[in-house]
Amino acid sequence: MLSRKISAQLRKYETPFYLYDMDLLRQTLQSAVSLAARYGYKIHYAIKANFDPRIVATVREFGIGVDCASGNEVRCAVEAGFDPSGIVYAGVGKRDKEIRYAVETGIFAINCESLQELENIDAIAGALGKVQRVGLRINPDIDPKTNKCIDTGQADSKFGISYEEVMAKIDFIRSLKNVKIAGMHLHIGSQIRELHVFEYLCHKVNSIVEHLTGLGLEFEFVDVGGGLGINYDFPENEPVPNFASVFSIINSHLKVGGCEVHFEFGRSLVAQCGELITSVLYNKTTATGRKLVIVDASMTELIRPALYGAYHNIENVTSEATDTERYTIAGTACESTDIFDESITLPKTQRGDLLSIKSAGAYGMSMASRYNLHDLPGAVYSDEI
Ligand code: LLP
Repeated sequence: MLSRKISAQLRKYETPFYLYDMDLLRQTLQSAVSLAARYGYKIHYAIKANFDPRIVATVREFGIGVDCASGNEVRCAVEAGFDPSGIVYAGVGKRDKEIRYAVETGIFAINCESLQELENIDAIAGALGKVQRVGLRINPDIDPKTNKCIDTGQADSKFGISYEEVMAKIDFIRSLKNVKIAGMHLHIGSQIRELHVFEYLCHKVNSIVEHLTGLGLEFEFVDVGGGLGINYDFPENEPVPNFASVFSIINSHLKVGGCEVHFEFGRSLVAQCGELITSVLYNKTTATGRKLVIVDASMTELIRPALYGAYHNIENVTSEATDTERYTIAGTACESTDIFDESITLPKTQRGDLLSIKSAGAYGMSMASRYNLHDLPGAVYSDEI
């Protein structure tokens, strides 16, 4: 990890802050882009993972598109210089003004999540005198075998349209004049480590595309979403995620004729390049004997542990102690769940030490809040140190 190598230089920045390893980011993007090129696959960056301007600008250098979850994300991508023809936009609750902006901007496709939304897109596009390209987000009812808080493709989920409803309303879908059903979209969940679930996804997609094509829909693209997981337990062992395996599975099992195949990677592109660097403020021991280390970061900088019970590997990057102790690492926020690790063994850790909370480049800064009126954390980039 970068922080360990440059720990002395980190002292000059006010903690907590995000540290980004820009070489690792480039290496990761290069891996994804060059492997995708072998199969002719198109990648969109799920900008919700991290919309830091330098991260976004670096992603753009690699010529990939963007996956957005709001009108403001579409705007952010456009203002960062991405070509609208590479932008897709999904979300269960698109406001009218967001749809209007997307239609006016001429993005590649709106990935539509309900039939009422489809009717609304049709009306808005009609009023603007346009025909909007749409991907139907179909809920494939697949268990992605991940944390249930970030699973999106099971039958009871709020995401997507059920295949049954699409079949039942196929005449209505075909009757709309201001939308062109150009593709099919799916996203079954995030932090997927059991890659065989992508094989089930392919089988579902194959049969859905075959049936719907038989009913007169003409798909130009199939967007299989994102979800590729990363190694939070041992980030150093797998700094660049396994794009090769997921592409190879999709290539072996997806049978969709001449349709373009699109991916929407978020976490896998940016998580491992980011660390949250925090200082130890205080040590104390509870009446029950639990040794607490209070750090100056909290759930307001990185909410994943408090929100999902997510694990992040933590290291003391400045301690030279040889003896270790078992600690609970707690944040500053007025919330009992504001704990980064309940039980971790670290070298003896004391006030002033710097800790790295690793694999924090995705869904870290982008989910930061100002609860307790905390300042938002800064960002330090390896190529500007
Ligand atoms: N496409 C769609 C439609 C999505 O909803 C998402 C993520 C992605 C792509 C990118 O998925 P990824 O490749 O990053 O797995 N805040 C949570 C993750 C929420 C993911 C939301 N959707 C976390 O911290 O784990």
